[in-house]
Amino acid sequence: MDNKKNRAVVQVPGTSANCGPGFDCLGLATTIYNYLDLTLLHANKVVVEAAGEGAENIPRGKRNLTWQAVQRLLQEVGRETDFKGAIIRTRNNVPISRGLGSSSTAIVGGLVAANEILGAPLTRQELLKLATELEGHPDNVAPALFGGFTVSVMDKGAVQTFSFQPRIKLKLIVAVPDFELSTRLARKVLPKNISMKDAIFNVSRASMLIAALVEGREDLLPLAFDDALHQPYRKKLVPGMTEVFEAAKAAGALGAAISGAGSCLIAFTTTRSGLEEKISSAMVEEFKAHGVKSKALILNVDKRGAKVIKKGAESK
Ligand code: HSE
Repeated sequence: MDNKKNRAVVQVPGTSANCGPGFDCLGLATTIYNYLDLTLLHANKVVVEAAGEGAENIPRGKRNLTWQAVQRLLQEVGRETDFKGAIIRTRNNVPISRGLGSSSTAIVGGLVAANEILGAPLTRQELLKLATELEGHPDNVAPALFGGFTVSVMDKGAVQTFSFQPRIKLKLIVAVPDFELSTRLARKVLPKNISMKDAIFNVSRASMLIAALVEGREDLLPLAFDDALHQPYRKKLVPGMTEVFEAAKAAGALGAAISGAGSCLIAFTTTRSGLEEKISSAMVEEFKAHGVKSKALILNVDKRGAKVIKKGAESK
């Protein structure tokens, strides 16, 4: 196989996990994208060229996360002796370590691009299994692969995902603070046990959230984004969290939550409300009042998930 056939370019959406009450199980894909241009090589070398968000910190060589995903897929389909290296070119728009699924885009991009080059030996469901194994949780990789809103269930190490397009046209307002937050640290602050009361709080809201989105019941959403399992413990890691949520709601948002493990905060409105600018200014201002510099992203829900945008052309 020559270089012409060994290349694929993919677009992968950033994601927002948890969506308030759905800790480690709910997620949605957003309209901010990372791009991966992958060429598989017979030679035993990994070349990484990165541009955009966090470019200078992306690991080069075989420590690169996209390479690790590619290598995992090659092993899975028994092609690891055919392709021992790769050229990985990335152009990233998703902020790093902010709770917008940047590591998922690296994993999902590598899996989807390599699978495409090899003639699609694995289904998306099979790619989800590998991606979850690499990421450790399904809630970012699932929407990155399938698009829309996703509900994922882990059962004895296996993952089952339901992906759907909400009947409410959501507009997402993301306040991106100027500090990173590692998922590891954000998980370390969580308690080992929770009360029955808090479990009921979350089960009821997560269920209401899905029902409202599936049935198009915007009136039920203001009840549905709150959480008692992780945000109360993480608020010390994101200065002004509660007040930014309140400011977003006072400006008309239907609800607000930490995006993934943070540090971004995400508020929800509808595309027809026309409130996105007002909500984003309120969130940025409130962060500022707590000494945090931030910028706002106004996004929609991505419907498609990871997408191959070019295939087979010669890599330059
Ligand atoms: N559900 C995860 C968390 C998101 O909140 O820790 C990061 O993968």
